[in-house]
Amino acid sequence: MNKKITVIVGARPNFMKAAPVLNEIQKHPDSLSAFLIHTGQHYDHNLSKLFFEELGMPNPDLYLGVGSGSHAEQTAKIMVELEKVMMKARPDLVMVFGDVNSTLAGALVASKLCVPLAHVEAGLRSFDKKMPEEINRMVADCLADFLFVTEKSGTENLLREGVSQKRILSVGNTMIDSLVGNLGKAQKSKILDQLRFKPQGYAVLTLHRPSNVDDITILSGLLEAISTIGRRIPVVFPCHPRTRKELNEFGLLDKIDKDAIRIVEPLGYLDFLKLQSESKFVLTDSGGIQEETTYLGIPCITLREYTERPITSEVGTNVITGINPDRIKSAANSILDGKMKESRIPELWDGKAASRIVEFIMGNRN
Ligand code: UD1
Repeated sequence: MNKKITVIVGARPNFMKAAPVLNEIQKHPDSLSAFLIHTGQHYDHNLSKLFFEELGMPNPDLYLGVGSGSHAEQTAKIMVELEKVMMKARPDLVMVFGDVNSTLAGALVASKLCVPLAHVEAGLRSFDKKMPEEINRMVADCLADFLFVTEKSGTENLLREGVSQKRILSVGNTMIDSLVGNLGKAQKSKILDQLRFKPQGYAVLTLHRPSNVDDITILSGLLEAISTIGRRIPVVFPCHPRTRKELNEFGLLDKIDKDAIRIVEPLGYLDFLKLQSESKFVLTDSGGIQEETTYLGIPCITLREYTERPITSEVGTNVITGINPDRIKSAANSILDGKMKESRIPELWDGKAASRIVEFIMGNRN
């Protein structure tokens, strides 16, 4: 029997997690078929279409085009559209990825229609419910029938929350599958020439968490600390649209020291991979970048109080500084003074997570 799998994606970090799984599903046309739904949570070319192209993803079978809105509006719009589709299609399995609003909406609709649900990147916890992603993850995990876990903290958290061991599958990290599969291509990117940077001659910054960018005091404190760092080593800052909007509204955009912090448009997957892999270090409040830098062995300074991906700081290159300017500057100075943290690649981050997931779905693995 051919198993119909509805794969739901919506925002930038979903795409590199889903691409390897779709690729694996396509290798088994007699047993599995995928129906890909893009909710349209992210719609800018640089946050969406470019990623589909670079990751070699098939065009979505359905694009819902929900766009931006408040959390309730966005989640509700996605749910209404998904329910219509799933009532007709009646898939055998729904797959959701990560922790964005599209993940939450997909999980709720599938569960209410009694369709089995798989959550890829299950079990991560920041223990900070002020993060919308924490709520999205908790709900998706609570509802999922199959929880595919990237690191051991995921399994521990789920067991503590009473999830049966039988539903938890430790498979590795599909985002790292994408990285492993695309690093060769990324090395050919011309982004360093375009920006006129030399390998190791710059640092990279990303910033988009509401808690960091929606508050003028926090955002200006962060930029001040990073400007100081930027006087020792230039910092290139591919700027998320929500961050650019806030910088504009707070009147901070023109005040940034342009020699220290170089703002550029959001980059595609391959250019960003190249930029990270050749950088001296990365400053970020993203989740996925903490994992990518750990795999690449590039030092990462995380501008948040907690990480939901503790393996990256336990064994990887990640240092969690929070938003305290002195701690951020001191972490950057240590790296610039040559004091590197020892690190290794976490277990099962070997580029084969998607194939483990698909073997499991086909019933060949338990
Ligand atoms: C979302 C995810 C976050 C993820 C991030 C990666 C949730 C709750 N958050 O945050 O976990 O780390 O994506 O990028 O799902 N906008 C555009 N163009 C777009 C998309 C958004 O300009 O293509 C602007 C809009 O002004 C929008 C704002 O960005 O209101 C926020 O977008 P949204 O999708 O709500 O959340 P992100 O901040 O992107």
